[in-house]
Amino acid sequence: MKLITILASGTGTNAENIIKYFSNEKNAKVRLVLSNKPQAEVLKRAAALGVEALFFDRGQFYDSGEVRRILQERGTDLLVLAGFLWFIPEHIIKAYRGRIINIHPALLPRFGGKGMYGDRVHRAVLDAGCTESGITIHHVNEQYDAGDIIFQAKCPVLPGDDVHSLASRVHTLEYEHYPVVIKNLLEEMDDQ
Ligand code: GAR
Repeated sequence: MKLITILASGTGTNAENIIKYFSNEKNAKVRLVLSNKPQAEVLKRAAALGVEALFFDRGQFYDSGEVRRILQERGTDLLVLAGFLWFIPEHIIKAYRGRIINIHPALLPRFGGKGMYGDRVHRAVLDAGCTESGITIHHVNEQYDAGDIIFQAKCPVLPGDDVHSLASRVHTLEYEHYPVVIKNLLEEMDDQ
């Protein structure tokens, strides 16, 4: 059984979607959800679905090694970022190199980097007058949104779109593709 840990900072609709998807799978499941925000809705969503959900602070993530210890202790084959806003420390990247992925709500390499998350990304896409946007699922390395791209899918930006309507179209793509990409990556690990 492959074990997934999700890191998320906010609402957690992707986390919930991934948990539900893998609850029907035999070979993998979401073992743990971790958040850097004590009040994040994602923690409630995960707990309601029977998944262990824990808060951690800056010191536990960057300095003491406590988060890494928890990941190792619970077992983590793949670390999945789903709306997680902190930079991943080097010691975790080293321990999980090639096994940390992120989803970004636009077509990288445009509209990525520090401070580009959620509605800010959609605002930038609209302000740039793009006629298409989409999602990017990529490996996580030492730089924001710069790891190798695993998968992209596109959607149109329609006349009259606002941040809300564009975000909703992009979210639909995320729900459709993120669990499947995770499943495929885990299966590839099996083959190695
Ligand atoms: C998602 O759209 C995800 O792509 C984005 O945050 C949202 C989280 O929504 N991530 C980033 O912008 C990372 N730079 P959710 O909490 O409902 O899953």
